[in-house]
Amino acid sequence: MSYKIAVLKGDGIGPEVTDQALKVLLSAASKYGILFDFTEGLIGGIAYEKTLNPLPQETIDLCKKSDAVLLGAVGGPKWDKLPNEKRPEMGLLNIRKALGLYANIRPAVLIPALKKECPLKDEIVNNGINITVVRELTGGIYFSEKGKRQGEFGIEAYDTDKYNETEIRRIAKVAFKLASKKNKKLVSIDKANVLESSKLWRSVVEEVGKSFCDVNLSHMYVDNAAMQLVKNPSQFDVILTDNMFGDILSDEAAQITGSIGILPSASLGDGTLGLYEPIHGSAPDIAGKNVANPIASILSAAMMVRISLGLDDIAKSIENAVNISLEQGYRTQDLDKESYISCSKMGDIISQNVV
Ligand code: IPM
Ligand code: MG
Repeated sequence: MSYKIAVLKGDGIGPEVTDQALKVLLSAASKYGILFDFTEGLIGGIAYEKTLNPLPQETIDLCKKSDAVLLGAVGGPKWDKLPNEKRPEMGLLNIRKALGLYANIRPAVLIPALKKECPLKDEIVNNGINITVVRELTGGIYFSEKGKRQGEFGIEAYDTDKYNETEIRRIAKVAFKLASKKNKKLVSIDKANVLESSKLWRSVVEEVGKSFCDVNLSHMYVDNAAMQLVKNPSQFDVILTDNMFGDILSDEAAQITGSIGILPSASLGDGTLGLYEPIHGSAPDIAGKNVANPIASILSAAMMVRISLGLDDIAKSIENAVNISLEQGYRTQDLDKESYISCSKMGDIISQNVV
């Protein structure tokens, strides 16, 4: 069996962490007798450098004819002054939109071997952390009307937050389905005490909830959620939230599990095509130094083989290999400042631990 994977390494640490994920996938492929057909495409700053477009049409075409997409990261200070539509980040936002990937799944799990690296006190995390963040990915303030204009007090800039009921309903269904397969607790996070879009969000989520009687639904304001995540993270099972709040809360959820360098994500739509990427960014300060943590990228590859390719045993074997390597004491610099191995060495060790 052969699977077509579009590989968009992007900028900063994107290429080095993605290379480790490819290494681990090849190791799994040889052990399980399957083939991966990797084709690279351009996205982000590197795509702008080569084509003046952060998302060339060829990249979209490549993704559409692939079984899945593995992405590194985009962005860097070099491109900070570019007009918005040329910025690397637009490459990422536009590929999500172009492929209709409205559901972003970000699992924040405290790996037992990393308990020491968790910044929260033992008594707070004694019951573990196992949160699935479901972030709406193609709507809200990221994609609604924005601009700059001359106002009464000088130039003003604005962004608007807008959701329609169809967008809310489809992401809510994804979250309810995941919750009903997990611990049946769904917390929908919004700012319905202030925002109109959040009020609609809450009422549509309530309505969808009527078809999922087995799931316990509650609502939480986003400011309180930010606090509850550090006060009592074990209370959360599945979190459903919008694009902006999901961006912020998933970084927080990542950090409380030890490091943002270990959190993977899957971006899904109504079809089988999915895009898999670490939730961390391009980390330009450490790019090219071979010190980044490749685990988020490797775990994203595991999500890819499970969700888009349906190869659960291979996914499990990659996840086990990550756990074993951490239990053996291997750490990258983000997890241990004193005693650490390089990004590529971590990739080698995890590849060897795939059985
Ligand atoms: C993420 C990132 C992106 C986002 C940026 C790079 C545009 O922070 O995937 O969380 O805001 O969605
Ligand atoms: Mg983010």
